[in-house]
Amino acid sequence: MSIDKAYNNWAEQYDSNLNKTRDLDQKATIETLEKYNFENVLELGCGTEKNTQWLLNKASKIIGLDFSDEMLNKAKEKISSENVIFQKADLTKNWDVENGFADLITSSLTLEHIEDLNHIFRQANLKMKNEGIFFISELHPFKQYSGSKAKYETEDGIHELEVYTHHISEYMEKANQNGFSLIELNEWFDEDNKELSRLISFVFKK
Ligand SMILES: C[S@@+](CC[C@H](N)C(=O)[O-])C[C@H]1O[C@@H](n2cnc3c(N)ncnc32)[C@H](O)[C@@H]1O
Repeated sequence: MSIDKAYNNWAEQYDSNLNKTRDLDQKATIETLEKYNFENVLELGCGTEKNTQWLLNKASKIIGLDFSDEMLNKAKEKISSENVIFQKADLTKNWDVENGFADLITSSLTLEHIEDLNHIFRQANLKMKNEGIFFISELHPFKQYSGSKAKYETEDGIHELEVYTHHISEYMEKANQNGFSLIELNEWFDEDNKELSRLISFVFKK
């Protein structure tokens, strides 16, 4: 099944099912970004707005891009603010956002579905102001090596989504090639497992 269709199916239960990755990402997002100031935010793969509401406390304008109608519908049900635009977009194409718009770009749990990281960093550079920051939070590649991948369950069974493994060196290389430098790297663990990190997060600066 295509990734957008899978998320259309997952959308109804995305916010409510047991999902340690989703919950840890929210913690990682808040703990990382609370110390930064930002006004214009571009959220890649905004989903059901899990992080948008918190970002809105600090931002004056947010554009959330996602290609799943049903994930976007959930987001729109929950946030109606003139400061937030939820826009249907495929991140593997060119992003229909004004160049130099963002001083913060965020991407949570989305890049594992995208094969070509170079395209993402190239577009991010175009859409970002100088000195802007790019926050990425993803399932840790070590966790992927151990077999973890995005999945949801229905009465028909467990549905695993199509994913790509991006090694840490690949994030670094593609970021550097597109004008970004690393300013933070963190690993995030479950409370009951301090041996295998669930998430990795990066903050890059343009
Ligand atoms: C695991 S969800 C994460 C949603 C949200 N960022 C969060 O942390 O809860 C991944 C999201 O990425 C979106 N996505 C995946 N590939 C995409 C693509 N090529 N273009 C746009 N959105 C994409 C999916 O539709 C989904 O909403």
